[in-house]
Amino acid sequence: MASTIKVCMGSSCFARGNIQNLQLIQNYLKENGLDAEVELVGLRCCDKCSQGPNITIDNVEYNNIDKGTLLDILEKHFGTAKKE
Ligand code: FES
Repeated sequence: MASTIKVCMGSSCFARGNIQNLQLIQNYLKENGLDAEVELVGLRCCDKCSQGPNITIDNVEYNNIDKGTLLDILEKHFGTAKKE
């Protein structure tokens, strides 16, 4: 695996939007042929609920993720790795 995306699945982040964010990440990886290269991991609450929803990509932590920022973040990390 070249990269790892960790998605907080604690109840706060889940309710704040990580359920939709997880779906979006899965779709993004699939659509861009990246599912074999990126490991997707669910985390328990990491005690940063007030900053959630939280995700980490290759040890870079992102907070307050919504659909728009998530797509930008995914493009930043994986835009060049996409398979045509
Ligand atoms: S639920 Fe995500 S940090 Fe607590």
